[in-house]
Amino acid sequence: MEEALKLISQRQKITVIESVDRYVSSERGSATLEGTELDLDDAIMGPTGRPLREFPEPAPLSSHGPARVIAMVNQKGGVGKTTSTINLAAALAEYGRRVLLVDFDPQGALSAGLGTNPHELDLTVYNVLMDRKVDIRHAIQGTGVENVDLLPANIDLSAAEVQLVNEVAREQVLDRALKSVEDDYDVVLIDCQPSLGLLTVNALTAAHGVIIPLICEFFALRAVALLVETIDKVQDRLNPRLQVDGVLATMYDARTLHSREVIARLVEAFGDKVFETVIKRSIKFADATVAAEPITSYASTHVGAEAYRRLAKELISRGGAP
Ligand SMILES: Nc1ncnc2c1ncn2[C@@H]1O[C@H](COP(=O)(O)OP(=O)(O)O)[C@@H](O)[C@H]1O
Ligand SMILES: [Mg+2]
Repeated sequence: MEEALKLISQRQKITVIESVDRYVSSERGSATLEGTELDLDDAIMGPTGRPLREFPEPAPLSSHGPARVIAMVNQKGGVGKTTSTINLAAALAEYGRRVLLVDFDPQGALSAGLGTNPHELDLTVYNVLMDRKVDIRHAIQGTGVENVDLLPANIDLSAAEVQLVNEVAREQVLDRALKSVEDDYDVVLIDCQPSLGLLTVNALTAAHGVIIPLICEFFALRAVALLVETIDKVQDRLNPRLQVDGVLATMYDARTLHSREVIARLVEAFGDKVFETVIKRSIKFADATVAAEPITSYASTHVGAEAYRRLAKELISRGGAP
């Protein structure tokens, strides 16, 4: 398990860049790529080209904490970070895991997605970061989802990036704040903003693991190579325990060769780091956001809800969550 969760190596980073370059220099879309002639919708093979298998039903937990902290990171916007954060949390909570969600994006989409009005918040993650006298417990709120709490954010957080620059140990501020609640939760998921700035570095410094949500489009692959470099640096200088838990392919469309090629390249570059669970493109996710609910409750039997339950089981079986 330790082996499987080790950081993505330099060699893998080079492979992903080469893969993209090879694709871009070929006739876009017309190239026949190994593995893609297979009917990947076939019942035996999953979309990642590995045989589809069931993950075990997670055993109930008899006690809670200390939490495993996972940063959901990709410096690109619109790749499914916030959607995956909410729905993975809701799925983990269905298995009895206590989850704290940290909204670490000044846009506050995670907070809004759970029904919070960003303008009506007294205390947010911003106050917790900037004022040590603020007790994180006073900023954390319950959500409509059982076992899921939220440390919300709003536009105030956009000032933190600049203000933190003058702090001592400025990369460790979130880590320090989360320490006092780590025994209350089994998993902390941090929904990062689309940048690799100081806030994201704080998230990576506080984290045990990183999940990289990645939209199934070719342009998205290059961003991952850069991200992996940042993760390497943080692991080297600030947080030796940090590891990549997995790359999550999102907005997958089985009907397009393009989606399937992206996954083939991802697996070529990142191997078993790519979650076998793949999230299909579906309008239901946007509908659930409008309803300010996770898809697991908004459309409990929908394939999208099932996919996030499967992801939760896969993560637990990999040792990425208790
Ligand atoms: N699997 C999916 N299928 C279709 N739309 C999705 C899916 N996942 C997310 N979306 C939509 O894509 C948009 C961006 O997703 P979001 O999770 O906010 O990305 P990020 O947090 O990376 O910016 C949102 O409108 C969301 O509803
Ligand atoms: Mg987001």
